[in-house]
Amino acid sequence: MIELENVAYSYGGGELLSDISLKLAAGSFHFLTGPSGAGKTTLMKLCYGALLPTAGHIRVFGADVRELDRDDIAMVRRRVGVVHQDVKFLDHLDVSENIKLPLTVSGRSSEGADLDELMSWVGLTNRANALPAELSGGERQRAALARAVIMSPDVVLADEPTGNIDWEMSQRLLRLLIELNKMGKTVLIATHDLSLIRATKAHVQARVLRIANRRVQLAGADL
Ligand SMILES: Nc1ncnc2c1ncn2[C@@H]1O[C@H](COP(=O)(O)OP(=O)(O)O)[C@@H](O)[C@H]1O
Ligand SMILES: [Mg+2]
Repeated sequence: MIELENVAYSYGGGELLSDISLKLAAGSFHFLTGPSGAGKTTLMKLCYGALLPTAGHIRVFGADVRELDRDDIAMVRRRVGVVHQDVKFLDHLDVSENIKLPLTVSGRSSEGADLDELMSWVGLTNRANALPAELSGGERQRAALARAVIMSPDVVLADEPTGNIDWEMSQRLLRLLIELNKMGKTVLIATHDLSLIRATKAHVQARVLRIANRRVQLAGADL
């Protein structure tokens, strides 16, 4: 699905990430961990083509990210759902309109039971007509997840999806991500919350990648 080969990235100073090779196979579940500033968000952006590597190669669904044409970019947008670390909504649109925005933007119909089902899945049915400013932290994160999956992506990338929410709600969000994985989707979650990783490992076979010293290592069972 997504493949990095000897990838490096620099914002202009020294290298932030060096010599990274990894594969996110179809249906896999990965955590990406490491201290704040290690490069988790940067690595995620590389994975969906929002940043281009300064060295090495990245292939997304077989296409080299340096060679994507407009159709390829549209394909990547559709097949990779992203929950951004700084979740943003259009403040004047209600929750349901925000969630279906990717459909609207891509010119797809947003009619039918799918949206209702999705709203119910994330537990936001009775918040559908609220404005983003009226949502709690947990509701925002669930709305962001719904928006990320409304195009039925094959891959879901979630960047600190449990950032500002309590333990109960974090668990609930993780259960949704596990469900997506059981439905066959490839999942990558950036988090520095090791207790969340431990709690999740009981329910899904997850690999833990850790960024340390600019490189990505596969973390052992010593979490
Ligand atoms: N657009 C940018 N320009 C320059 N430096 C950046 C930019 N975005 C992030 N950085 C720097 O890159 C490093 C890694 O950031 P980030 O990928 O957000 O780490 P993490 O998500 O692990 O906290 C940080 O030192 C950050 O300040
Ligand atoms: Mg980050």
